[in-house]
Amino acid sequence: MTAITSASAPTTQRFSSPAAGAYLGRIMAAYEHIVILTGAGLSAESGLSTFRDKDGIWSKHNIEDVATPEAFARNPEAVLDFYNARRRVVLGVGPNAGHEALARLEADFPGRVTTITQNVDPLHERAGTRNLIHMHGEILKAACAHCGARQPWETDLSVDLVCGTCNRAGGMRPDVVWFGEMPYQMEEIHAALGTCDLFISIGTSGNVYPAAGFVAGARAAGAHTVELNLEPSEGISMFAEAIHGKATEVVPVYVARLLGG
Ligand code: APR
Repeated sequence: MTAITSASAPTTQRFSSPAAGAYLGRIMAAYEHIVILTGAGLSAESGLSTFRDKDGIWSKHNIEDVATPEAFARNPEAVLDFYNARRRVVLGVGPNAGHEALARLEADFPGRVTTITQNVDPLHERAGTRNLIHMHGEILKAACAHCGARQPWETDLSVDLVCGTCNRAGGMRPDVVWFGEMPYQMEEIHAALGTCDLFISIGTSGNVYPAAGFVAGARAAGAHTVELNLEPSEGISMFAEAIHGKATEVVPVYVARLLGG
């Protein structure tokens, strides 16, 4: 399993017409296991910045300064300030119609739904999604870099904090997976991709692996692959179907179709 890295080389094609609608209607009923991958675009309309859009987080901060283990070793205050500011924003927002539609899908779909999110916000859970994998961690949790203990955390982190488990200071960090670190629950993720028959990617640019490679895994398992995103992602050529638009508009419509609405 590879650690988090970045990707290149897009081609685009589009497949959303009356024929696509009729085709979708015929095959919807047949699905048994839906896997959903979400990214920052799903939470954008809740007021959380994405990473690579024009005013995105990486247009204002360098990954090497705030989102690597090396940065934390070099200047922990700068890293903690960055995540403290993001945590405060996350605590002030709620789920949108996109999150709510996905929770409805999990609740009402007769088959299995597995949601894999790259997002570190709690908006899926707040909307009611339960079968959820936070592959990049959670900003409302803290982890100790010394002993690995993890716990819910909603206030600012600082280098003076002492870990309640190992009693050592200076190791408390956000429980977020940084570049170069292993994402969480990769075995569960690969098992889900290997058994899904519908894979839906929502609000992600397809720049970051291993998540950007999940569509290939789903295709290899014979799944129908769908991209719901504001614009074509880097991996658009891997998808059998794409519907481009805002998550709060396209996700509820697509979920309604899946539920036979
Ligand atoms: N509705 C739907 N899609 C949207 C919306 C919206 N309202 N707004 C933006 N998007 C799309 C953008 O077009 C873009 O393709 O969401 C995508 C966001 O892409 P990124 O900013 O690259 O975010 P993401 O793909 O989630 O990043 C992956 O990279 O920085 C790391 O660990 C971080 O989990 C993150 C990972």
